[in-house]
Amino acid sequence: MRIGVIGAAGKIGQMRVATILAEPKAELAAVMDMSMDKARAHAHGAPAFTDLDAFLGVPMEAVVISTPAHVREPLCLAAFERGLHVLSEKPLHHTVAGSRRILAAAKAAKRHLGAGFNMRYYPAFACVKDVMESGRIGEVDHIRVYGGHEGLPKFAFDWEYKSEISGGGALWDVGIHMTDMARHLLGEITEVYGVATEKVWKVKGSEDNALAIFKSPSGIPAIYQATWTDWKGYKSAVEVYGSHGMVRGAYAPMENMLITMEKPGGATTTVRKRYLDIRIREKLRSWKTTALASFQAELDEFIALTEGRTGLRIADGHAALRAVEVAAAVAESSRTGKPVTLENLGAMVP
Ligand SMILES: NC(=O)c1ccc[n+]([C@@H]2O[C@H](COP(=O)([O-])OP(=O)(O)OC[C@H]3O[C@@H](n4cnc5c(N)ncnc54)[C@H](O)[C@@H]3O)[C@@H](O)[C@H]2O)c1
Repeated sequence: MRIGVIGAAGKIGQMRVATILAEPKAELAAVMDMSMDKARAHAHGAPAFTDLDAFLGVPMEAVVISTPAHVREPLCLAAFERGLHVLSEKPLHHTVAGSRRILAAAKAAKRHLGAGFNMRYYPAFACVKDVMESGRIGEVDHIRVYGGHEGLPKFAFDWEYKSEISGGGALWDVGIHMTDMARHLLGEITEVYGVATEKVWKVKGSEDNALAIFKSPSGIPAIYQATWTDWKGYKSAVEVYGSHGMVRGAYAPMENMLITMEKPGGATTTVRKRYLDIRIREKLRSWKTTALASFQAELDEFIALTEGRTGLRIADGHAALRAVEVAAAVAESSRTGKPVTLENLGAMVP
């Protein structure tokens, strides 16, 4: 598949380019960024552009859009108009309306929209999903998801935290991966009750913390927190509790814990997995090696998605939209004090 990258000079864009170069089924068709110097510096011999029409004039089947969310809509719409598939970074857009327009354009063009929820491929989180589906922890009672970091000092650009262009705070940033994780595990999120706080960083409309309960269509709850006040540093965790045990996945560091029992309250067996290979690799090289591995797996599945394969781990356009809708629903629920109901989107059919 010939793939172009928009935002190729960015922190994540450079990693997306690297994954395309390393993917046997893909070829880097072209790159685009804001200045020709930046674009050329990350083109690896592919044609480089600053003009969207000229970039899209290069023969290709798909684009990866690695820009900030607030500039994404015209880029996605133009790509779908040209009949291309799109893999977009998270969040799809900084507004619900914009996200819906992007999804509608994908459907009108009958093209696939993949969402960059690459944490689905982190081995500890993939393990949680696989254990839950295997039935080893029995009937699922509830889920806990958590994602956070220290907040504003982490950011280099205002698009990362100012609500007018970011959509909001912790929920729209690291938290959106865990919103997606909750949906990935629950199947769908159709009810949202939440409370958002703004006491620490005091950026209007950008929550420091979002505490929420999400419900699946069958009523399984997920308790959720996204935070910009985790003074311990960058952390994400997912736990699923069932009638016959629980499974936990966390990062960083990457780890799993699985507790199983033959009957509720019976003798327990505990298994822990610490991914020493990943920890050593990250120590010797960088955390980026873990992100890169997940981008590689995601790209492989994005190609498979466009080939019509099903049963994949990749987040589709409905996952992209629902994560943004849930973020907006928490803010609404926090304002009104009432839960927000959402329709069941299910899987996306282009
Ligand atoms: N999945 C993850 O783990 C993860 C991690 C961090 C960031 N992200 C997401 O990736 C996206 C990019 O983040 P980043 O940290 O790489 O940002 P960045 O600022 O480092 O890179 C963005 C790049 O896009 C370019 N750009 C901006 N507007 C453009 C336009 N209209 N046309 C072409 N190029 C344009 C910029 O010049 C820059 O090179 C964001 O949506 C962010 O939320 C994802």
